Amino acid sequence: MAVPGVNAVAAGQAWDAGAYARNGRFVADLAADLVDWLAPSPGERVLDLGCGDGALTEQLVERGATVVGADASPELVAAARARGLDARVLDGQALPFDAEFDAVFSNAALHWMKRDPDAVLAGVARALKPGGRFVAEMGAAGNVAAIRGAVHEAMARRGLDATAADPWFFPTLADYRRRLQAAGFEVAGIETFARPTLLPGDIRGWLQTFAQAFLAAVPEAGRAALVDEVRSALAPRLANAAGQWTADYVRLRFIATKKRPA
Ligand code: BEZ
Repeated sequence: MAVPGVNAVAAGQAWDAGAYARNGRFVADLAADLVDWLAPSPGERVLDLGCGDGALTEQLVERGATVVGADASPELVAAARARGLDARVLDGQALPFDAEFDAVFSNAALHWMKRDPDAVLAGVARALKPGGRFVAEMGAAGNVAAIRGAVHEAMARRGLDATAADPWFFPTLADYRRRLQAAGFEVAGIETFARPTLLPGDIRGWLQTFAQAFLAAVPEAGRAALVDEVRSALAPRLANAAGQWTADYVRLRFIATKKRPA
């Protein structure tokens, strides 16, 4: 069941749990050390914001935490529940929790919450107990710049407004640190780094899984041709001689704590 407003979180983007597992499993695999940053202790209550199909949520549970997964996608929440997890369909920009979590964790999700990033941070701050920690990784400024640029160019050639369709928020380190501080966090650590990421298959699969918001703005009859055009434009930069594709990921990672009242 769709929750009103939730699917507007990333307009035009719908998630298919099977396609996500095929084209996006690496997302959780690459974040294993983010779980080490969180270092959940047995008995801690953790909110996994943007839990997707629950692959990482499950790891937090295995470490003994009591975890609530939250995601805007009913399909991915269903996949997380199928793993036996407590997962809920929620809008990350309107979190309903109040001082009940020791930590909030988020991997590769915050950049989808573009409509109101400060409302996300206000909701995370509200959800945490004083002194609680927020540990997250998201796309940083420059993330998938080659892919994004090629999609924008292909849409512009057709007279389509890619900027209006663009679902992603990739902030700079300075911008996000300022937002965290304004939301009442002390930033204990924050970094950006390039992570060229070998894809499990062709860039077509990545585009069809993650770039749906752009494709939704293209008349259906022209979508396959646009994907082919983007693929051809990117091949010299992102594909090797063996036909393996590497996406130009750039990450922003941080650990911040909710300030205690003075
Ligand atoms: C990311 O994890 O950085 C990402 C994934 C899909 C689309 C855009 C960004």
